[in-house]
Amino acid sequence: MNNRFFFLSLVVALCHYVAVAEESGNSSSSLTLRAVNLGNWLLIEGWMKPSLFDGIPNKDLLDGTQVQFMSTKLQTYLSAEHGGGSIVVANRTTARGWETFRLWRVNETFFNFRVANKQFMGLESEGEGGNNVVANSDSASSSMETFQIVRNDGDPNRVRIRAPNGLFLQATSETKVSADYEGSSWEDSDPSVFKMIILTESTIRGEYQITNGYGPEKAPQIMRV
Ligand SMILES: *[C@@H]1O[C@H](CO)[C@@H](O)[C@H](O)[C@H]1NC(C)=O
Ligand SMILES: *[C@@H]1O[C@H](CO)[C@@H](O)[C@H](O)[C@H]1NC(C)=O
Ligand SMILES: *[C@@H]1O[C@H](CO)[C@@H](O)[C@H](O)[C@H]1NC(C)=O
Repeated sequence: MNNRFFFLSLVVALCHYVAVAEESGNSSSSLTLRAVNLGNWLLIEGWMKPSLFDGIPNKDLLDGTQVQFMSTKLQTYLSAEHGGGSIVVANRTTARGWETFRLWRVNETFFNFRVANKQFMGLESEGEGGNNVVANSDSASSSMETFQIVRNDGDPNRVRIRAPNGLFLQATSETKVSADYEGSSWEDSDPSVFKMIILTESTIRGEYQITNGYGPEKAPQIMRV
């Protein structure tokens, strides 16, 4: 039994390692697939039942999940220009590495958005534009890198993204993405509405995702059963 637990821990560690390695460059599908195969196989093991994930709010947005956002108005994807270290734009018609954001889950609706070069999305500092969305922060330690994903009741993959300043992101043009929208419509023509694509094959379903997903109050009860 001990041996088996050790082996599982090893596999979990490996999955994390592969996932981290995969993050470092432009998205590389071969590495992603390897992690998934290990992960799914691992989950068949009894001590971590797939049903453990069922009660997690927004369980399709676990820590580490990769997502892409297409502006319904422009029909283009949000992109961290140069993979990070620069502005966030919306001028790509297809989504690859720079258009993929890895979610660090703060709680059920709040996330840090990690871009291809491992920096985080945030807002430009006051004076330099303030509301412009950039991806140049080395850490997500301040509240300025925390965004809320607000899902549409009828279509959970239709979202709006609330920035740390309390306002919503909007893609007013392909090269201007700012956090200054105050409306509330869900029309396609609304510059703050995005179609969220979840790269489900990239999702890691491990012990950390369970505890982080349930949060500090509920996780201890779940993990005890
Ligand atoms: C997107 O916009 C940025 C900033 O203006 C520009 O540097 C880049 O070349 C554009 N990319 C495409 C594919 O239009
Ligand atoms: C990385 O991906 C972006 C778009 O996602 C692309 O424009 C760029 O050429 C890629 N860079 C490399 C080195 O593959
Ligand atoms: C989630 O985190 C955000 C940002 O830290 C916080 O403002 C919010 O109150 C939290 N929500 C819950 C339900 O804990």
